[in-house]
Amino acid sequence: MGSYLGKYAEYYDHIYANKPYKDEAAFVDACLRCNAHGETKTLLELACGTGRHAFELEQLGYQILATDYSADLLEVARAQAQRRGSAVDFQLQDMRDLQLGNRVFDAVYCLFDSIGYVQTNEAILRVLQNAAAALRQQGLLILEFWHAAAMLRGYEPERQASWPLPNGELARTSRTVLHVDRQLAEVHYRLRETDTAGNLVAELEETQLNRYFLVQEMALFLQTAGFNALEWLPAYQPGQAIDLDTWHVMVVAQKA
Ligand SMILES: C[S@@+](CC[C@H](N)C(=O)[O-])C[C@H]1O[C@@H](n2cnc3c(N)ncnc32)[C@H](O)[C@@H]1O
Repeated sequence: MGSYLGKYAEYYDHIYANKPYKDEAAFVDACLRCNAHGETKTLLELACGTGRHAFELEQLGYQILATDYSADLLEVARAQAQRRGSAVDFQLQDMRDLQLGNRVFDAVYCLFDSIGYVQTNEAILRVLQNAAAALRQQGLLILEFWHAAAMLRGYEPERQASWPLPNGELARTSRTVLHVDRQLAEVHYRLRETDTAGNLVAELEETQLNRYFLVQEMALFLQTAGFNALEWLPAYQPGQAIDLDTWHVMVVAQKA
């Protein structure tokens, strides 16, 4: 099952137009500066989507290889890179099977709960082992994941949202079913684009399966893959405690 395929990829940046990528990238930069041993200049991004964090981190002075397994999202990212004159290297790669030759990086990051798309214990461990292999000694990993506690307590079976488009509107209905035994949220999306007169322009459906995690479960995955966790926090909220209302957890870990 893929994600953000075809026209959904074209809509991605409209849907997340208000997501504070610049602030999030500044936070990642601060985490790297705070925890780094030695110079931290080269970054590998897993599941970069349309490249919004990568563009912001590039502005902060990093050299970035940004990877994703969606050719459609990478097409949007590369077009944006060309418009911006960006040197971010976008590559089609599945994070379960990274092909990097002998390249090693100072840090790896994987944000916006993307690790959950690989779903199974085996695949998660493989992704984290791939991240460890891509890091120099004492290199850092920054990972953001969906938190089981908030998901189980607060998930909404149905949600509706809409966004303005240059020539109309995009409306999205999301229906969510939880598969508690596998810790997966199955989200069925229905998207409808209409023009300014309300006529239907395009319609599509997509189902995504994404895993949610508890903190100690992720701690064990990280340890098994060869990382020491340095810091756990609600994503982008330093100094706050992780609790039942924390939807996104962030961990900073170091290659052991
Ligand atoms: C919620 S989006 C986040 C994208 C981007 N990090 C952001 O913050 O906008 C999840 C991303 O994970 C990517 N993805 C899912 N499974 C993947 C895999 N096995 N390998 C690489 N990318 C994957 C999807 O293509 C999508 O770009």
